[in-house]
Amino acid sequence: MSYQTLCVLGLGYIGLPTASTFATHGLKVIGVDTNPAVVEILNHGKVHLFEPGLRTIVQAAFRSGNLVIKDQPQAADAFIIAVPTPFKEGKSANLNFVTAAAKAITPHLKKGNLVILESTSPPRTTVDIVAPILEKSGLTAGKDFHLAYSPERVLPGQILRELIENARVIGGVDESSAKAGKALYSLFVRGEIILTDATTAEMVKLMENTYRDINIAAANEFARLADHFQVDIWEAINLANRHPRVEILKDWIKVGEDRCG
Ligand SMILES: NC(=O)c1ccc[n+]([C@@H]2O[C@H](COP(=O)([O-])OP(=O)(O)OC[C@H]3O[C@@H](n4cnc5c(N)ncnc54)[C@H](O)[C@@H]3O)[C@@H](O)[C@H]2O)c1
Repeated sequence: MSYQTLCVLGLGYIGLPTASTFATHGLKVIGVDTNPAVVEILNHGKVHLFEPGLRTIVQAAFRSGNLVIKDQPQAADAFIIAVPTPFKEGKSANLNFVTAAAKAITPHLKKGNLVILESTSPPRTTVDIVAPILEKSGLTAGKDFHLAYSPERVLPGQILRELIENARVIGGVDESSAKAGKALYSLFVRGEIILTDATTAEMVKLMENTYRDINIAAANEFARLADHFQVDIWEAINLANRHPRVEILKDWIKVGEDRCG
């Protein structure tokens, strides 16, 4: 499996570094964003986000001639969806951006294409929501085209390094979809690429985020208590972490402000 062209939908903290990294590794990339301001800024050679090293790689991607920015998708060998998945009131996931992106891909979908959902999404989103939309093309997921979910694990501030070095989970709607995902990301990922099914990969992301939130919340509470009792929080954490099965986070920030969607 080899890919020549890639369409990345959503040019934010995840999509723009991903699109630029693929472009600097030789793929022809169409970066798509529905926000006209984002398209205009990027087409003027500027970058609308701050992330260390991002401007440099975006400029390198443009210089290579491999990156173009558009306001809607075009035909490509592979598609990556990296659009927002905010909470709705009541804390359920708002999947409107994901469904809009899948709908926009459908008219361009061809046999043999690969579609990857990277947006943080609840278990079964790929199978129950994205697949039926794409199958309106008349093609069947897992048979005529590959479909996979691959969660993003990067930490803002070190996105460009982690994109390449982190281990990546790829869950396919079938085995060949997961393998197709691996063939794509292998272009630049140096971390281990582990294959599974789509719903397991979504569950993995849910567990990772929940684990991080709980641990950050615990560290915050300890800091609040340390303040109250006039205890040095760093000394207390270091001493508690001498317990063989305790590892209180030291690199915490407030839950809710953590952008690691
Ligand atoms: N930022 C992180 O550190 C991080 C880490 C892990 C996972 N994630 C997840 O990755 C996903 C993307 O997050 P982000 O931080 O890049 O978001 P972001 O808000 O920075 O960027 C998303 C971009 O998508 C665009 N967009 C919205 N609908 C679109 C559509 N239908 N077609 C094309 N573009 C569209 C928006 O205009 C925006 O520019 C989310 O699900 C998030 O939870 C983010």
